Amino acid sequence: MGEKLSRVVIVGTGYVGASFAFTMLNQGVASELCLIDMNKEKALGDVMDLNHGLPFAPSRTKIWQGDYSDCKDADIVVLTAGANQKPGETRLDLVNKNTKIFQSIVSQVMEAGFNGIFIVATNPVDVLSYVVWKVSGLPKEKVIGSGTILDTARFRFLLGEYFQVDPRNVHAYIIGEHGDSELPVWSSADIGVIPLCDYLEQKEGVKQCDLDDIFIHVRDAAYEIIAKKEATYYAIAMALVRLTKAILNDEHSILTVSTYLDGEYGFEDVYIGVPSIVTRQGIERVLEIELNKEEKAMFARSVQVLKDLIGQLDL
Ligand code: LAC
Repeated sequence: MGEKLSRVVIVGTGYVGASFAFTMLNQGVASELCLIDMNKEKALGDVMDLNHGLPFAPSRTKIWQGDYSDCKDADIVVLTAGANQKPGETRLDLVNKNTKIFQSIVSQVMEAGFNGIFIVATNPVDVLSYVVWKVSGLPKEKVIGSGTILDTARFRFLLGEYFQVDPRNVHAYIIGEHGDSELPVWSSADIGVIPLCDYLEQKEGVKQCDLDDIFIHVRDAAYEIIAKKEATYYAIAMALVRLTKAILNDEHSILTVSTYLDGEYGFEDVYIGVPSIVTRQGIERVLEIELNKEEKAMFARSVQVLKDLIGQLDL
């Protein structure tokens, strides 16, 4: 009995989409990778370039430049197309531009007969995840935004650097909008299995201002990187591959993806970054972690930022 084929379609082969495809090839995640871009020559160039790397890849991946008809049999469609942030531009500034682009893309994907899972990466990812859910008509658990997966990774990296421990042993979440209103959940962070507040007591010379600085660097990382090199793409591509693997392998992993709140944390009808269980069927459920008073207020503010934008959408 042959292994079940897995097809991932990438819509948009710009910085993020091409880096995602490259990472997927290097990690041998899917058996089929279809690249779609309005610039067909660019997509074909990426396909040729990726195929030439196949002899170095860990497993065989069939890669081709396709069109929306290829979405019919896709397990996952990853949306990276759209305008990206220009230096100094916020993710929320992109809302109208990318909402229009997404209405067109998602309608064509659904017309092709797609019945899999959408992964949304284009910013503002929380608002666009909501747009994809509305336009596609798929159940909410089948539309997943990258959310604050990358922010949480940045948080774990910087805390690991500061405490000189492997970031994989730092358990700390960034939740909320993937953007300026996101928040660190300090109250449930731990190093190894030691709550951060206890770890701080054991560690000489830790200053609260250092920890505050770490969060600011996490929140503003994209602006800093965009100012230096025009766009971010390596880490977000790896984050998207992590999410893709969690789905394809039915991992039941807990990731801070952008998912639909239906009463969790006291809010509904919004897509936002919260720890969620990711499975082959999409989001199994949202984990409601304990938030302290300040975190609850910051989370409510982040929800409001997104609901204000969603309220302006003309869907
Ligand atoms: C960033 C982009 C993916 O945070 O929004 O780098």
